[in-house]
Amino acid sequence: MEKPIKIGLLGAGTVGSGVLQVLQENAKEVFLKVGAPVEIKSVLVRDAKKARPYMDGLIVTDKIEDILEDAEIKIVVELMGGLHPAREYMLAAMEAGKHVVTANKDVIAQFGADMFDQAKKQNVGFLFEASVGGGIPIIRPIMESLTANRITEVMGIVNGTTNYMLTKMTELGESYESVLKEAQEKGYAEANPAADVEGLDAARKAAILASLAFNTRVTLQSVAVEGITQITPEDIDYARQLGYVIKLLAIAKDSPEKGVDVRVHPAFLPKEHPLASVSDVFNAIFVKGNAIGEAMFYGRGAGSRPTASAVISDIVSLARGIVSGEVREIAFQVFGQKQFCPIEETVSAYYVRLLVADMPGVLGAIANAFGDEGVSLNSVIQTRKVGELAEIVAITHHVKHRRIERAKRVLSSLPVVTKISSVIRVETPPTSEVE
Ligand code: NAP
Ligand code: HSE
Repeated sequence: MEKPIKIGLLGAGTVGSGVLQVLQENAKEVFLKVGAPVEIKSVLVRDAKKARPYMDGLIVTDKIEDILEDAEIKIVVELMGGLHPAREYMLAAMEAGKHVVTANKDVIAQFGADMFDQAKKQNVGFLFEASVGGGIPIIRPIMESLTANRITEVMGIVNGTTNYMLTKMTELGESYESVLKEAQEKGYAEANPAADVEGLDAARKAAILASLAFNTRVTLQSVAVEGITQITPEDIDYARQLGYVIKLLAIAKDSPEKGVDVRVHPAFLPKEHPLASVSDVFNAIFVKGNAIGEAMFYGRGAGSRPTASAVISDIVSLARGIVSGEVREIAFQVFGQKQFCPIEETVSAYYVRLLVADMPGVLGAIANAFGDEGVSLNSVIQTRKVGELAEIVAITHHVKHRRIERAKRVLSSLPVVTKISSVIRVETPPTSEVE
């Protein structure tokens, strides 16, 4: 019988404990797929004295050297999260000749190039399926199964925490604070949930997906990001009245004329849109290619066992390579660098909610302000009063982002406008060319 393949696990939190649990539960399945037993030997944690499940017979340590210097350990699985020391530990593991698996989108979105270069230099595998979409297979499909295509667009819901929150706020009218707490309790949220609600987690994933799909380097810094912290129950209610739902979308487009456009922001989605029914912790990602057309990937985007499923798939892939004597997938390589499309040049319809003076001529003044900046209005409604003020909701036709920004500046300077409460994109296809 083949010798067991030994693993060093860095981190035994939500995902790490899921990996321990599922790998023990499915040991026989994994053995049959690899042709050798795959076993976790050592686990690195901050607090090595804490009692934890699924640890019987394992070495529990708070010293990385215990794993790096153990020649028997062939694969290091990094599930600590954060940039440091996760990045340094992974680089050191590769330096020590170990293959690396990670779910860490922070490191890949910021230092992906270094990680891939180090893996290539050291001739070790570096896999990261769980870094995007939790349990959904999306990295390998883009890196391998869809390589025949020129991919033009990747769009989806890639953050489980915010999707869970928006779903509960929409369906049950729960408060922002209580749904965030629920998402944390369920293990969906990052250690610092600001990364989820401010859109950074989704932006890191968008950067990774765009790099792989368009074969160009996209880091977090190149992604325009807006989170859900400004979304109010009023916006959710207006969306419902108008036939939409609000979702946090990651959008990456590659067009020869405009360049690469990668952004994360909340958007009104028509209720009939396939992403509108993706609820709770589920994620879904559309990929558009010039041969396949559209493909959609759907599943649980966060949580202990779904994410463990993706991590273990990478472990199995590397373990098979170890058994056969050839780790086939070394690391992703980027061979191009494309131009980026500035956010000001991106095009969308917009929902704009305003508090204005309730007096004759106000609607006209507002319509003129939009019109003067080249923003054409699709519809305007006035349904409620807030004290002495009237609330107006306008939906625009498609317009460049710079025009809506200019219109916002002009509107804020009008004496009749007390407040621009919200500006949210409306994700519908444009009906004509936009100047
Ligand atoms: P977590 O619950 O916070 O667990 C982190 C684990 O790492 C803990 O066991 C912690 O030790 C250990 N750790 C942290 N810093 C350490 C250090 N400096 N030295 C030694 N051990 C350290 O995190 P998680 O939710 O499992 O997430 C892990 C990774 O998976 C992150 O990159 C995250 O983005 C990614 N991810 C998470 C999910 C999800 O649904 N949660 C889904 C996809 C990807 P102690 O237990 O002693 O504190
Ligand atoms: N915090 C992340 C989310 C975990 O909610 O999607 C999965 O990457």
